[in-house]
Amino acid sequence: MIKDVWTIKRALEWTSQYFKKEKIENPRLNAEVLLAHILRKTRLELYLEFSRPLSLRELTLFKKLIIKRSHHVPLSYLTGEQDFMGLRLKMDENVYIPRPETEILVEEALKLVRSIDFEEGKTSQDFIIVDLGTGSGNIAIKLALELEKSKVYAVDISPEALGVARENARMHNLNKRITFLEGDLFIPLVDLGLEGKVDLIISNPPYVRSEEIKSLPPEVLREPRIALEGGGDGLAIYRKIISQSPGFLRKAGFLALEIGHRQARRIQDLILAQKGLCSAQVISDYGGVERIILVKRM
Ligand SMILES: C[S@@+](CC[C@H](N)C(=O)[O-])C[C@H]1O[C@@H](n2cnc3c(N)ncnc32)[C@H](O)[C@@H]1O
Repeated sequence: MIKDVWTIKRALEWTSQYFKKEKIENPRLNAEVLLAHILRKTRLELYLEFSRPLSLRELTLFKKLIIKRSHHVPLSYLTGEQDFMGLRLKMDENVYIPRPETEILVEEALKLVRSIDFEEGKTSQDFIIVDLGTGSGNIAIKLALELEKSKVYAVDISPEALGVARENARMHNLNKRITFLEGDLFIPLVDLGLEGKVDLIISNPPYVRSEEIKSLPPEVLREPRIALEGGGDGLAIYRKIISQSPGFLRKAGFLALEIGHRQARRIQDLILAQKGLCSAQVISDYGGVERIILVKRM
């Protein structure tokens, strides 16, 4: 009888071993996050209540999540949330899960916006920002919160992703400050009279080469394909963004892009060949990988 009591400690130990066997990375962390989610506790609280027995309902729910996780469903889809720069965001399988590298993109964009503000005497609060491929809305929401009077236009081709992004904006009381638009990159912006007026265009577009998709980790393959695939050479969306940005940016406005591994040179070439854009600044992530490209409109 005693043996059938599943305490928090026992459930975590068993699940960590199981995940290890199933080749899930960070097995203990995964077990803790899932159990904490079911019990609505923090991971620390689990440790403080190690000998608390789980009810049958809790065990059943936990078991369901363990099975899904062992089939490589990402943790954020199972818990339904993800942290981005200190913001809690709702997630589901319709949206790309925000990555830490994208936090660097947002930090660099904020530095840029604040520097043009300083150079040209414009208040950084009044900026017009366009986020192309907004996904869960993470970039748009963080920028809107940091730049209190900015107006943000967030575009995505996926209506399902926009549904999640809108919900996230509502959660952060930003539904009036962010306009969500469905469509292919700049197309939904055409009728809004924004040509030549945008201060910052920001994007983390899909950039995986079509033939590379099949070799992505199984967790990544659970994310929407439209969020990953960037055409035969991975640069299809960059070509469109780079060629159309000069028409929307105001003079001295900025384009900030996240880029894939080893794409910097080819994207710089596209920028150099584009009339209306200055040469690009490339910024590396903490692992020394070139990740961000910043370009100024001439
Ligand atoms: C890599 S995800 C980035 C999501 C989010 N901005 C982030 O950084 O975490 C790329 C996003 O671009 C969207 N997308 C793909 N092609 C697009 C297109 N042609 N026009 C607009 N959005 C597109 C996808 O639906 C996806 O949400």
